[in-house]
Amino acid sequence: MKKIFNNTINIKDVGKKVELYGWVQKKRDLGGLIFIDLRDRSGIVQLVVRPENSYYELANSLKNEYVIRITGKVVERESKNEKLATGDIEVNVSELEIINKSKETPFTITDEVNALEETRLKYRYLDLRRETLKNNFLIRNKITFATRKFLNNLDFVEVETPILCKSTPEGARDYLVPSRVNKGKFYALPQSPQLFKQLLMVSGFERYFQIAKCFRDEDLRADRQPEFTQIDVEMSFVDENDVMEVGEKLVANIFKETKNIDIKLPLMRMKYDEAIKYYGSDKPDLRFDMKINDITKIFNNTDFNLFKNIIENKGIINAIVVKNAASNFSRKDIDKLTEFVKSYKASGLAYIKYQEEITGSIVKNLSDAEINLIKDELNLENNDLVFIVCGEEKIVKTSLGALRCKLAKDLNLINKDEYKLLWVTDFPCFEWSDEENRFLACHHPFTSPKDEDVDKLLTDKANCYSKAYDIVINGYEAGGGSIRIHDEEVQQKMFEALELTEEDINTKFGWFVEALKYGCPPHGGFALGLDRLTMLLTGTDNIRDVIAFPKTASATDLMCESPSEVDDKQLSELQIKIKEK
Ligand code: AMO
Repeated sequence: MKKIFNNTINIKDVGKKVELYGWVQKKRDLGGLIFIDLRDRSGIVQLVVRPENSYYELANSLKNEYVIRITGKVVERESKNEKLATGDIEVNVSELEIINKSKETPFTITDEVNALEETRLKYRYLDLRRETLKNNFLIRNKITFATRKFLNNLDFVEVETPILCKSTPEGARDYLVPSRVNKGKFYALPQSPQLFKQLLMVSGFERYFQIAKCFRDEDLRADRQPEFTQIDVEMSFVDENDVMEVGEKLVANIFKETKNIDIKLPLMRMKYDEAIKYYGSDKPDLRFDMKINDITKIFNNTDFNLFKNIIENKGIINAIVVKNAASNFSRKDIDKLTEFVKSYKASGLAYIKYQEEITGSIVKNLSDAEINLIKDELNLENNDLVFIVCGEEKIVKTSLGALRCKLAKDLNLINKDEYKLLWVTDFPCFEWSDEENRFLACHHPFTSPKDEDVDKLLTDKANCYSKAYDIVINGYEAGGGSIRIHDEEVQQKMFEALELTEEDINTKFGWFVEALKYGCPPHGGFALGLDRLTMLLTGTDNIRDVIAFPKTASATDLMCESPSEVDDKQLSELQIKIKEK
C-alpha cells in the first residue's frame, strides 16, 4: 500500500528516501534536467531526473497523467516555491516505474480550467482530479464525519430507510420505478425519509438520524439536483425549541470542525411574516441591509392614478433604497433592472434619484408633500437611489426581494467570507395554489399547526401558522423541519383542510394514519441539505461542484448517458409499452 501522501513531505524530511505514487501533472525539460510535477490526492511534489540517471530516457517519455511510482531522496530546493505546500523541497529520483499510460486528456487537469462544463461532466472522473473540486469532497467528508460524531454523542441512532417506497405525491413530483413482480404497480423513490422517520418515533427509537439520499423530479436550479442528500434527524418528547437547539448546535459544530469558524449561538430567529415583509423572501440574506419599506400609506389620498388604482385594488407600494448610488445608475441600467423585476411578474419598476434635485420616472406625478414624506420615511440622503414596485402583495415582495439580492451582488455589497445564519419560524400552514385551486401544505401535511390555530384549520386556512422552521444561511435554505402532528384526529383534520378525499387519505396515507393510533409520542425533527451546506462551506454557488457525479440542468448524466432507452425485453418483463409520439 502507498504509505506517503505528497503534501506530508517537508523540509524536515531532507535526506530521507521516499517511495511515491501518483500522476504526472507536468514534465519540463530544462536544459537536460527533467522536472516532473507528481500529483496525488493531497497535492504536488517536484521530482528531478538528471541526465546521468539511468531512468533519464524513461522520464523523458513521460506524458501528462501517466501513473508512476518513484523512489528517491528528499533534497532542499535551491529556488523555493512559496505557492506549493512542498515548495521547500524536491525529490531526486533514483528509481522510476511507469505503472500505466494515459491517452491525451480532453482538457488539461488544472484549476484554471477553460473547458466547457459539458466536456468536464462527460469526463467527470478527470474533472475530479482537479484540486479545487477534490477539496470540495474532502470538506464534504469532514461534514458527514462531524455530523455522525456529534449526533452519536447525543444518543442519536443511524437507521436506514427504504429507497423503494410508496408514491405519496404531496410536494414535488415522484420518480417512479415499475415493479416486475407486481405488474402494473410502481414504487416511488423517496423525496425524503419523512414518514419513515416518524414511524421510527412510533417504534420508540426516540432519536434517529440518517445521511439520506432523496429524489425529487422538479425543475432544477443552481442549488437543486434531482437526487441530493439530507442530514435527516427526528426526535421524540421535544418541542420546537429543543429541535432548533440540536439543529443549530449541529450546524455550529460542522462549521467549527470543517472550517474552524465560530458561530455564535443561539441563532437569531425571525418569523416568516417578518422575513417576507422586510426581505421579500423566506430565506433572507442578512449579509447586507437594504430592507423593503412599505410606503403605501403615503399615497392614501394620492392623485397619481397608478398608485390610486393599486390601493383601491388592495395592492401595496414598496420601496428599497440603494445608498449613495444614484449617480452610478444610467437609464439603460435601470431599464435592465426593470426587465429583471418583470421576470418576477412585477408590472414595472419606478425609481427616484435623490441628488441636488429630485428626478425619476414618477416624480412629475407626485406632489411635493408626497415627495417629502418619501424622503422622511426612507431617511434619504444625497445620492440615494430609490426603487419602487407596486401591485399585488406577493408579486411586490418577491420581485423587490430578488432585486435586493441582485443589487447587492452587482454592487459588491456582500462580504464573501461572512456567514449569516438565522431561523425563520412560524411558517403558514398552507399556501394557495392557483394551479390546483386549493390550499397546499406549506411544508408537508404532517407538520403540526400552532396549538392556538388547530381550531382554524377548516375555517380560516389563510391565518393558520405551523410549528415549522427553516435554517437559512447567506440567503440559502440550508435546512428545515417541524414538530409533527402526533394526534390522529388533528392529522385527519389536516388532510381534510388539504381537501384530500377519504379515498385519497386511505390509499395514500392510510398505513401512516394507522400507526398514529398505537401510542405515537410527540415528536419533531429537521433535515439539512448536505449538498447546500457543502456549497456554503466550500464557497461555490454551483451544486454540481459538491456532488461527485451530478446531473445537468435537464437531469441527464453526460458521462454514463443516463437516462437511456432500455431494451424491449426489459420493457416487456415490466409490461410497459412506450407510446409512439
Ligand atoms: P425540505 O423539503 O425542506 O424538508 O428539505 C430539507 C432540505 O433539503 C435541501 N433540498 C435540496 N437540496 C438539493 N436539491 C434539491 N432538489 C433539494 N430539495 C431540498 C434543502 C432543504 O432545506 N422531510 C423534510 C424535513 C423535515 O421536516 O424534517 C424535508 O424534506 O437544503
